[in-house]
Amino acid sequence: MTAHLKKVELHCHLEGAAPPALTLAQARKYNIDISAYLKDGAYVWHDFASFLECYDKISEVYKTDEDYALLTETYLAELAGIGTIYSELIVSPDHGKRIGLGADAYIEGVCEGIRRARAASGIEARLIVTGERHFGPASVIGAAEYAASARNPLITGFNLAGEERMGRVADYARAFDIARDAGLGLTIHAGEVCGAFSVADALDAVRPARIGHGVRAIEDADLVRRLADLGTVLEVCPGSNIALEVFPDFQSHPLRALKEAGVRVTISSDDPPFFHTSLEREYELASSVFGFSDAEIDAITRTGIEAAFVDEATRSELL
Ligand code: ADE
Ligand code: ZN
Repeated sequence: MTAHLKKVELHCHLEGAAPPALTLAQARKYNIDISAYLKDGAYVWHDFASFLECYDKISEVYKTDEDYALLTETYLAELAGIGTIYSELIVSPDHGKRIGLGADAYIEGVCEGIRRARAASGIEARLIVTGERHFGPASVIGAAEYAASARNPLITGFNLAGEERMGRVADYARAFDIARDAGLGLTIHAGEVCGAFSVADALDAVRPARIGHGVRAIEDADLVRRLADLGTVLEVCPGSNIALEVFPDFQSHPLRALKEAGVRVTISSDDPPFFHTSLEREYELASSVFGFSDAEIDAITRTGIEAAFVDEATRSELL
């Protein structure tokens, strides 16, 4: 049982955490037909590309700043209820623009949700602005410029997500320069859909402090040593990896092997209802499937706090 353990989450896409029941209520409110993407209380997708499509489609039923406040508050309240003290939410201002809400109102809605959740439970949260590879380098630079110029104290990181098979990380290096110059923490999705080379690509082109997933680094022993030597933190999401068939089953998932090789690992849920998981389940899996003791799980949580994109005063309070 891990219910009694303190938890943190560094890798969760906000719209990817939308409970199906809330998404359905939103769709009814705006009279939007999402029956191809949400059936019998579950999101419908069959591979990585159709998952991304489903994600983008269901996101369209969250339309106003209040919709975003509600979504954010709902997810953070769920996290607080299982003992989570800190959460980083991956957000896409591009999405706010696409639905006509605008990036500022989108982010303000999310920040209002954070304030409400913090007032109710004390949970602390920060935002990681993401660019999406499948929207191309210009859009990713736009997201970085937004994150850098917003001067919003809750925006503390910059990410690259989306279709990993599209382009090389070097194509997006300018966006990371902008984010780094603004003092944002850097993380990149790599080694999820693509193999070890994509993790090396991220290290060579940007050398982020953290990698989203990164689990396929296990295919290259030299790369695993490089990650351990650099102290790069992996945001590992085992349930997501199994749902997306990155590995056939939990027995072949490399979370334990990476940790034992000296790589700094953390545990997150990625897009929980899409992958029939939750942060609570990911912590349970760490115990029941990966065989980590409570002390080892506490050490993983501590790694998450050490790697969090927060100011040092907040980090000390979390530790
Ligand atoms: N966007 C939302 N979830 C994602 C994932 N697991 N990989 C890449 N991009 C994503
Ligand atoms: Zn992700």
